[in-house]
Amino acid sequence: MAVVRRKTLLRNISELVCISHSAELQKRGAAMNDIALMENAALLMDEHILWIGPESDASAQIDEHTDVVDCAQRCVMPGFVDSHTHMVFAGSRSHEFARRLQGASYQQIAAEGGGILSTVRAVRAASEDDLVANGRRVLLSALSYGTTTVEVKSGYALTLDDELKMLRAIRRLREELPIHIYATFLGAHDFPPEYAHDREAYVDLLCTQMIPAVAAEGLAEYCDAFCDVGYYTVEQTERIFGTAQEHGLKLRLHADELGCVHAAELAVRMNARSADHLLFVSEEGKKALGEGETVATLLPGTAYTLRLPYAPAQELMQAGACVALASDCNPGSSYSENMQQVLSLACMNMHMSMEQSLNAATLNGAAALDVSATRGSLEVGKEADLLLLDCSHYSELIYHYGVNHVQSVWIGGRRVHRKSTEG
Ligand code: NIG
Ligand code: FE
Repeated sequence: MAVVRRKTLLRNISELVCISHSAELQKRGAAMNDIALMENAALLMDEHILWIGPESDASAQIDEHTDVVDCAQRCVMPGFVDSHTHMVFAGSRSHEFARRLQGASYQQIAAEGGGILSTVRAVRAASEDDLVANGRRVLLSALSYGTTTVEVKSGYALTLDDELKMLRAIRRLREELPIHIYATFLGAHDFPPEYAHDREAYVDLLCTQMIPAVAAEGLAEYCDAFCDVGYYTVEQTERIFGTAQEHGLKLRLHADELGCVHAAELAVRMNARSADHLLFVSEEGKKALGEGETVATLLPGTAYTLRLPYAPAQELMQAGACVALASDCNPGSSYSENMQQVLSLACMNMHMSMEQSLNAATLNGAAALDVSATRGSLEVGKEADLLLLDCSHYSELIYHYGVNHVQSVWIGGRRVHRKSTEG
């Protein structure tokens, strides 16, 4: 006898934040102000969303295969899609953070051999099991704050074997955890100390050995680089990206974070899926992102932590860019895995509206990972990745800041997290 998949009916939802009703794959401009809100709603799911409708029609959806969850007049929304993180790492940089509070700059600490290279030393010394254990802790925490899809980068090892170790750790976490994980190879995060005086030789190594090995093992979907003042030049990035494309990897870029090197234009020119950071994006870069396909992913946690000027979110949206929000969770420049905090920073310091921030952290984040056909909004046929919040109005999520509003998380229709205080 065929096993009938059980269904779950979420009923008595005060506000259902659908994000979209029209199966659009991303949002730009005025569409960012709409979150396709339904009041007094209900939702039926198996691993996919089967039905969405008014509470008054909910009872008719129940049969003997249906489990019913009474949402008690609270909000339901899609899980967050955090499309830029470095959640697999080792060690702590709290001592550097303390120094920055006393006036040292990120670049000054990096020039003294700290910064990214301090995490590189810790990651090289760590075993694959250590990386899995650390990554599991951060990813499960992110899940408890509502992240259901996440991108994770390598880039804290900068040798072939240790970058593969990082990527294998990410793959194990992807197999083990319910959260959807996408891997990015970031061998061009910094220059390893062994190549400090011959940077071109490291770019050669990336192109002739590291990228081919990562692609051959199928360990990453994306290739990323840190194209910025003092890091990879536009020319070096072009070469790395050309090689990555030849090996079937898609592209995403750390662009214009510390200064303007016109990395955003390069990202659009090379058809990168996303250009990230953009604190110092040029006028030409804004225009290119407004006209091109590349998503503009903003990471306000980094501007906050490094006390840098925030990315020009409003100008990018006015230019027509598809703006996404992500955490950049990493031990140096933004140590938070909490996307609710990211929304708060985006609204308060980048002057985004709540609706813009919600679209940016769900559907547009999914667009930045090329998964918006199946995730990022609550629409019939999409995967049932969603959150039950502890509030009756979605505005509480941002208004009442610094607390975790997520009560329960479903991924693929399965409840994978429940706040321990919930009755
Ligand atoms: O996205 N920009 C480069 N990478 C990270 C920082 C990494 C670190 O400091 O460890 C970022 O900000
Ligand atoms: Fe980053």
